[in-house]
Amino acid sequence: MSQKVLGITAGRKNGNSEILLKEALVRCQEQGADVTIINLRDYNIMDCTGCTFCTKGMSEGKNVGCILDNKDDKKKINEVMLEADAVIFSAPTYDLMACSSFLRFMMRNLSYETAFLETIGAIEHKDRVCALIAVGGSTRSWQSMALETMQATMFTCDFRVIDMLLATGVPAPAQCLLDEKLLAHATKVGDNIMKALKTPPEERTWLGEENMGWCPNCHSNALVLGEVQWDGLHYPIECQVCGAGGNLEKTEDGKWKFVIQKDGLLKDRTTVAGRAKHLEEIMEVQGGFFRNPEKSALVNVKLVKYKEIQIKTI
Ligand SMILES: Cc1cc2nc3c(=O)[nH]c(=O)nc-3n(C[C@H](O)[C@H](O)[C@H](O)COP(=O)(O)O)c2cc1C
Repeated sequence: MSQKVLGITAGRKNGNSEILLKEALVRCQEQGADVTIINLRDYNIMDCTGCTFCTKGMSEGKNVGCILDNKDDKKKINEVMLEADAVIFSAPTYDLMACSSFLRFMMRNLSYETAFLETIGAIEHKDRVCALIAVGGSTRSWQSMALETMQATMFTCDFRVIDMLLATGVPAPAQCLLDEKLLAHATKVGDNIMKALKTPPEERTWLGEENMGWCPNCHSNALVLGEVQWDGLHYPIECQVCGAGGNLEKTEDGKWKFVIQKDGLLKDRTTVAGRAKHLEEIMEVQGGFFRNPEKSALVNVKLVKYKEIQIKTI
């Protein structure tokens, strides 16, 4: 049976993100994949309300779904997304990061948290791979969080990112068609997706540019100064995306590189085990709040003042 490769874009119709995605998908199709494309602009996707209905259900071991399931198209698309063997996501850069329609769609993933759904037998385990394409009018400088924001939305549904393409310098609609190198790069993304699908899951690795980004673990290009974490763990420098910890070191040729320390992948957010550490944090910090009636009572008392403050709106 042919493998299913889904493309999800948030770009303009016939715009750069859609074209580069099609270029990659066609390559997959040429190699026998059954390809499908979804442009989020054709669908109604509502914002996560933050109601925590889904996570409260999960804490009781139940798949209660999302309160918006019957109100918009997220569930319908998600079912196709989680059935796919590979997904290629493409999104325009708005204000340095992936555009809000992409983020709105992906930030609804919490109620479809795959590790949970697999544990309770609601869905079968799949080793999902994906590739990311971020498109912008400028250079890396003005797309500084584009791929990184896309990467950050891959955790909840356990997508393993095997390639990323930052398409720079294409502000006008379909302008990427003038850049043969860029189109060829998108084709390569398709090749890499197929290569990953033909590789046994446990042997799948990063197939993008070898030295892409600062982080040798997730290839993000974004580092932050580490601060003491809730459990006391402290790294001098952290990868903003995967949370790898380490420090900057100077190489023999005088350049800087980010070196991950021995225990630096303890909380690697790209893995189920690493994310489980975050669940421990939630249990401790949020759970600690909910389990303590005195704290909730105190909040309710203090909240009265803020509920009563009336500030005019428009
Ligand atoms: C509201 C808005 C904000 C934008 N911000 C950025 C930006 O921060 N960096 C950048 O490189 N391009 C920015 N762009 C340009 C788009 O990323 C560019 O036009 C891209 O080609 C759109 O992709 P599409 O053709 O797939 O829709 C912005 C465009 C809009 C409409």
